[in-house]
Amino acid sequence: MIVLGIETSCDETAAAIVTADRRILSNVVLSQLEEHRPYGGVVPEIAARAHLDHIDRLVGQAMDEAGMGFADLSGVAATGGPGLIGGVIVGVMTAKAIAAVHGLPFLAVNHLEGHALTARLTDNVAFPYLLLLVSGGHCQLLVVEGVGRYALLGSTIDDAVGEAFDKTAKMLGLPYPGGPSLEKAATAGDPARYTLPRPMLGRPGCDFSFSGLKTAVRHIAEAMPRPLPERAQADLAASFQAAAAESLVNRCRNAMTMLGQSHPEVRRLVVAGGVASNQTIRTALTGLCGDFGYGFTAPPPRLCTDNAAMIAWAGIERLRLGLTDGLDFAPRPRWPLDPDAVSVQPRATARPRDSARDAAQSTALAARS
Ligand code: KG4
Ligand code: ZN
Repeated sequence: MIVLGIETSCDETAAAIVTADRRILSNVVLSQLEEHRPYGGVVPEIAARAHLDHIDRLVGQAMDEAGMGFADLSGVAATGGPGLIGGVIVGVMTAKAIAAVHGLPFLAVNHLEGHALTARLTDNVAFPYLLLLVSGGHCQLLVVEGVGRYALLGSTIDDAVGEAFDKTAKMLGLPYPGGPSLEKAATAGDPARYTLPRPMLGRPGCDFSFSGLKTAVRHIAEAMPRPLPERAQADLAASFQAAAAESLVNRCRNAMTMLGQSHPEVRRLVVAGGVASNQTIRTALTGLCGDFGYGFTAPPPRLCTDNAAMIAWAGIERLRLGLTDGLDFAPRPRWPLDPDAVSVQPRATARPRDSARDAAQSTALAARS
């Protein structure tokens, strides 16, 4: 079984070919960083146009690198949501056209399911597992019970952790995109230099909060001369990163404690999404898993950030179960993984990156509460 995957839900145009025996034959990612850099975040209209300009070439490149013709494929998968709708439409229409012309099954993949199942592609992880999904638009803890079967344990009541990294980086005068540049700056910094709050520490449950931490950094940064002295920039970055990591660990600890009672069969933590490429966070989670006797899986960084191999893989998982979609599938700006879960609190504000993906999902969740 060989599937072409297409990802266009945010600011990466991506195409990949993946096989059912877990080989990634090609994985092409074109980042739109330069297009969005002047605005300090993703501009949905610019993203949609860039996807349109590049998608055909990228699909061709992925097919060439894999040495495939369309006739060799078993199906075509595209991110069907949640995401910036202009981009999602471009990917879905491209996949539908290829599927229609070549008589192939079409699979509409939930972008979050792509992140959630990546560890099964990279490490052949078995169900069930605890998933910490940390990206620019999402911060959730879920039990992954099977393909399409997710139970939400907690999510953020304000900012997603990647969003907090991005905004904090901006406050510190670090270059866009914020997450990776903050991590880089932090390597030279002292994480104990500044005392920052550990959001939600000691609170029951598995919800997250990062806006207080971000505000605490802002207060410290605003009291400093501009541009920030390099030492202060590095120390503040390291202090923020340590606080964020500790908060994530605390929430995961609560989840593991709860699951010990209700779901003792869950014995593994998987981390996914762009923030999962952060080394400090990976190390902190490894330590926590040691305490609980949990296995720990973190996909390689290039498969944590947005890519199409995860979409192709989720497509394979769905195709194996006969979960194909009709060509009448409508792209979805919002698409929660656990539709039965209720949001703790809808997000008050959106932000440029992932704003549609995130705000729309929160609205969907809130509508059920
Ligand atoms: O999964 P992803 O590529 O896109 C979304 O679905 O949002 O995640 C992007 C997010 C951004 O907020 C980015 O700053 C963050 O992941 N990120 C990181 C790192 N690499 C990417 N955050 C912290 N440390 C990193 N190394
Ligand atoms: Zn993502």
